[in-house]
Amino acid sequence: MPALRAIPVSGLQGRINVPGDKSVSHRALMLSALAIGETRISGLLEGEDVLATAEAMRSMGANVSKDDDGVWTVAGVGVGALAEPAAVIDMGNAGTGVRLLMGLVATHPITCTFTGDASLSRRPMERVMGPLRRFGTQFTAREGGLLPITVIGAADPVPVRAEMTVPSAQVKSAVLLAGLNAPGETVVIEKEATRDHTENMLRHFGADVVTEPWPSGGVQITLTGQPVLTATDIHVPADISSAAFPIVAALITPGSDVTIEAVGLNPLRAGLIETLRDMGAALTVENERVEGGEPVGDIRVKAGALKGIDVPPERAPSMIDEYPVLSVCAAFAAGTTRMTGLAELRVKESDRLAAMVDGLTACGVTVRFGEDWMEVDGLGGAPEGGATIAVDLDHRIAMSFLVLGCAAKKPVAIDDAAAIATSFPGFAELMNGLGARIEEVDA
Ligand code: S3P
Repeated sequence: MPALRAIPVSGLQGRINVPGDKSVSHRALMLSALAIGETRISGLLEGEDVLATAEAMRSMGANVSKDDDGVWTVAGVGVGALAEPAAVIDMGNAGTGVRLLMGLVATHPITCTFTGDASLSRRPMERVMGPLRRFGTQFTAREGGLLPITVIGAADPVPVRAEMTVPSAQVKSAVLLAGLNAPGETVVIEKEATRDHTENMLRHFGADVVTEPWPSGGVQITLTGQPVLTATDIHVPADISSAAFPIVAALITPGSDVTIEAVGLNPLRAGLIETLRDMGAALTVENERVEGGEPVGDIRVKAGALKGIDVPPERAPSMIDEYPVLSVCAAFAAGTTRMTGLAELRVKESDRLAAMVDGLTACGVTVRFGEDWMEVDGLGGAPEGGATIAVDLDHRIAMSFLVLGCAAKKPVAIDDAAAIATSFPGFAELMNGLGARIEEVDA
């Protein structure tokens, strides 16, 4: 796969649409595969991660196809009726895909083996297996709880009450999806609320899911097991985690004025918007509306002066995937930006905290860090750039440094662009359409 380089430009301009939300897309395919009838999904992200989930659902008996009009149709099998896949399921780079699927199959009387790429194969899976074992599910995993993993689904599952030990929507979702085929009530308690797309979509398909406040800010979620899920149309909003890249690119590239249309603004995902506003960003949300059950809006950003801030740690779950590109933004702001509560960044597609520290330092930015925090000394203008960044199979690290290169003093290259296709196919072309200069270079 080619290496890419971003050459500094000025004045990004235009209105764009970014691809569909990755979290919502995975869930749409999984729940429609369990529903009775045909679900039509528009706006599905056709990134590699989501295509792996589509393939997995096919291998378990669902009929998944794409129509000529770009809408996907899924004919489901019904809760409890997933078929045993005939082969190992390769989930590539997709952490959400594999963790949610482990939950989905955990209470079906089938055996499934999951594998993934080098990045996914070093990510912790015990956080999912622990609560799922309590349903009666058995696992064999590589040393340290790593993929490849074989799931032996519980033939006679019992419902579970699980308190989350890490703020993870993936773990929560795995438990709820397992609860679908367990009798009685499955309960999840989150001390810090995380994205609630699973709960929203379960309700959309007709399941009984009740979310109540939990003392000191969290939530308790109760799912009544063995519902009949009924096929329904789904519209996937544009992914705010993808929109984050052109948003920050426009903020830091002088003379820019960019609008990203119909971006999903679920409050449990939109922490970046608040944070950028705290930094003084000229960012407005226009045309706010509800589409397919999720709030969406057009985000307009203009380049301008930014200031360093302290980002509150309690905001982390609502912007966990945006810290890499936020730290790029912080490098251009005047003053220090302090980000805390970042422990989860260490176990994403790469160790994102280490990747940002190393990459920013290579680009001439002063960064201090600890196990779960990072401080970026903003330059109040463009950092030097001029580095080539090893992206280590991490799409968000790749895109973050290309964004930095759009506005640095010297071009910034990434060693391998392949990972970008997991979540944002067409990223470079879309950015170049705004006036960026992201081009292939010899690796
Ligand atoms: C996701 C949850 C987050 C996020 C990931 C998508 C999801 O992971 O980083 O990109 O769709 O549930 P964790 O739940 O592990 O924090």
